[in-house]
Amino acid sequence: MPHFDRPTILMCPPDHYGIEYEINPWMSRSRQSDRSLAESQWRQLRDVLISIGADIRLLDPVPRLPDLVFTANAALMWRDRAYLARFRHSARQPETAVDAAWFQAAGFETRELPIGWDFEGAGDALFCGDTLFAGYLIRSDVGGEQWLAKELGCRVIPLQLVSDYFYHLDTCFCPLSPTEAIYFPPAFDEYGQAALRQHVPTLIEVPPDEAARFACNAVVVGKHVALNTGCPELERSLNERGYTTHATELGEFIKAGGSAKCLTLRLDGEDAALWP
Ligand code: ARG
Repeated sequence: MPHFDRPTILMCPPDHYGIEYEINPWMSRSRQSDRSLAESQWRQLRDVLISIGADIRLLDPVPRLPDLVFTANAALMWRDRAYLARFRHSARQPETAVDAAWFQAAGFETRELPIGWDFEGAGDALFCGDTLFAGYLIRSDVGGEQWLAKELGCRVIPLQLVSDYFYHLDTCFCPLSPTEAIYFPPAFDEYGQAALRQHVPTLIEVPPDEAARFACNAVVVGKHVALNTGCPELERSLNERGYTTHATELGEFIKAGGSAKCLTLRLDGEDAALWP
């Protein structure tokens, strides 16, 4: 079992990052990212995370795997296990072998979901308390998430994602603690909105313009929250609740449909997670 004495986060430097294909509505090959700007934005996020107490582990970048930077999708972490992704789109499928090798070398046990179900890791599966909230339809299949919850012996709340712009759960929902979360209601159907209200005592709603700045795609480390710039209303709500916010520009990654949270994978368990 890998041992962590601090919040520990996996990141992958953007050496080979770029917009090489289009698998979500944010991506357009005609709107390329700027290599050196992406590198400096990524370094700033890493430095913010270090400054709020995180230990950063690095996955080596690989040519022709531009989305490998989005380590949130590598797996769902649970104790010493990494439940590996099975990506919907063929362009990202080769990432899994790279991720698996990293986890194994780091001392984690890797497991796969049964064949036939796609699953995009912590991008679509987030613990809030002892409940696994699971986004499905666009990238992950609900059957696989139900299988996973049974494996872990926890309750699962499946949430259908209804907007192509909010194609992963972590683009529209962010647990802060076992009882609090950020969300963008229009990304869910009526049933999903009601399920969230029923199971999460405190929900902070973000306005549409801030949701489009990936406000929900925030990284929580204790009472600190790192997120993209341009989300003043959310920052105010978080500050009122005792969180210190750290806004850092991540525009180059929004071009691929990702922001702070997507660029990270918490290896020792999210602050909001009470693992069963
Ligand atoms: N271009 C990537 C994709 O479409 C972005 C992934 C963002 N990751 C996330 N956890 N939301 O798959």
